[in-house]
Amino acid sequence: MIRPEVATAVHAEVDLLDRIEALRVRAIASLNTSTQARFGQYFTPRRAAELIAAMPRLPKSRSLRVLDPGAGSGMLMAAMIYRLVTDRAAQSIHVTAVELDESILPMLHDAAQECVQWAERFGCDLTVDIKAEDFIDSRTGWDALSEDFYDLVVINPPYAKLPANSAYRHALISYGVDCPNLYAAFLTLGADALNEGGELVTITPRSFANGPYFEQFRKFLLRTIALNRVHTFESRSTVFSDTGVLQENIVLSGTKGGERSKVRISVSNGHTDDAIEHVVPYEALINRDDRHQFLRLALGAEDILAADTMASMPATLDDLNLKVSTGRVVDFRAHEKLRDEPDDECAPLIYPGNLQQGVVDWPRAIGKAQGFAIREESDHKALVPPGCYVLVKRFSAKEETRRIVAAVWDPEVNGDSPVAVENHLNVFHDHGNGLSREIARGLSIWLNSTIVDRFFRTFSGHTQVNATDLRTLRFPSFDSLSRMSGSAPRMLPDQARVDRLVESMIRLEMAQ
Ligand SMILES: C[S@@+](CC[C@H](N)C(=O)[O-])C[C@H]1O[C@@H](n2cnc3c(N)ncnc32)[C@H](O)[C@@H]1O
Repeated sequence: MIRPEVATAVHAEVDLLDRIEALRVRAIASLNTSTQARFGQYFTPRRAAELIAAMPRLPKSRSLRVLDPGAGSGMLMAAMIYRLVTDRAAQSIHVTAVELDESILPMLHDAAQECVQWAERFGCDLTVDIKAEDFIDSRTGWDALSEDFYDLVVINPPYAKLPANSAYRHALISYGVDCPNLYAAFLTLGADALNEGGELVTITPRSFANGPYFEQFRKFLLRTIALNRVHTFESRSTVFSDTGVLQENIVLSGTKGGERSKVRISVSNGHTDDAIEHVVPYEALINRDDRHQFLRLALGAEDILAADTMASMPATLDDLNLKVSTGRVVDFRAHEKLRDEPDDECAPLIYPGNLQQGVVDWPRAIGKAQGFAIREESDHKALVPPGCYVLVKRFSAKEETRRIVAAVWDPEVNGDSPVAVENHLNVFHDHGNGLSREIARGLSIWLNSTIVDRFFRTFSGHTQVNATDLRTLRFPSFDSLSRMSGSAPRMLPDQARVDRLVESMIRLEMAQ
């Protein structure tokens, strides 16, 4: 038989979180599309809010101070309060909920009132202070309260790119952290608002986990917070489906100034699906020697194998004495030089659409100019000299099974002239010159393998492949790359055969 106090608690939970979910649905219906995009109003569904609220370790104290910046209609706040109260984390809880958009405030006030009345039934002294203000301005302005610290900060931040000249971006730079997106600004100020030993939990896009744009922010966050748990969603469409958001989301929780020993990593398809999880050493998530501090998420046995294989490869790109850069031709800035039908005064112009099964198919009817006119000496600055190069797409198309798609430009097949590489491609070269044919082909096979693709996905949550990402990979030795190229046809065979080739090379490499 269910004990009466448990029955009351269960009933009260249904009452509370159902009612806050109803407020959320009402809030979404009241949004107009322009303010929704401007304020990044993507409210957390109830089940996702419960998942997020379950993540942080609960600081033990008689009284707790909680901050929710960008509180919206209060769903995340309510789920956190529910957990704190039912886990009897503290006798008194004070929540500060910050929300800029006045039109949401009536729903947030209702949510706060519901929470306070509900908590009272459990003998918890809950107060909610709603601040109708701009979170960034209030924490970075002259009158910012430097002693305003919290034990727990829960954030589902707004997302919006912050242009280099935006006031928010400047405010954060003067604060010491360059934040290219509003979500990074919220996390920076949220982490900073924590007491030592306090907990941060947040759901954000995965885009900050690698790449150069978020490097300063990522380093700040990982320096300030020791991660305890990381959860990712495989589906890009389910979590915020009722507000139409399509992106890879990640939930992080960690302790300010905490110990970096182990991290629990989990993954589920959407927020209502079962999760698989495992515990990894901190080093597996963030390698101490990685000067870019990428967040690497090996989520299952195959990911771990890919990460281990990659770590065991003998060479960095520097060891191979090779370079990778972004293609120099930005087509909309070079209109007058583009030629649909290349003639004698043109260099071949290569787009991602020219890459086919490991080779460059040029010229090809892809609806893009195929020639780059060379009129003056200075036009050569946009070109690479004749030679073999490995080209890698910077953006993979949705239908492509791999994120890394590489192909060889080979003068023996494609013609011995300088080459114009369009900006949506990365190019591997030897200090501005071509590579040996064997190395080019070996590199292309390695980059096109499933093992490299899997490893890449452990740290990259988006379809973009930056030159910086490629620079962090490890590679087989010069000898292995050359040997591998000798046993492969020019046009790459099917994926299974590419992988078999790479696997036998790995076995040989490991036996040495
Ligand atoms: C992604 S929503 C999350 C809402 C809520 N925390 C949840 O999880 O459902 C972000 C919220 O931040 C608010 N917001 C946007 N910019 C803000 C700012 N500069 N200061 C305070 N709130 C802001 C938006 O109006 C929106 O309600």
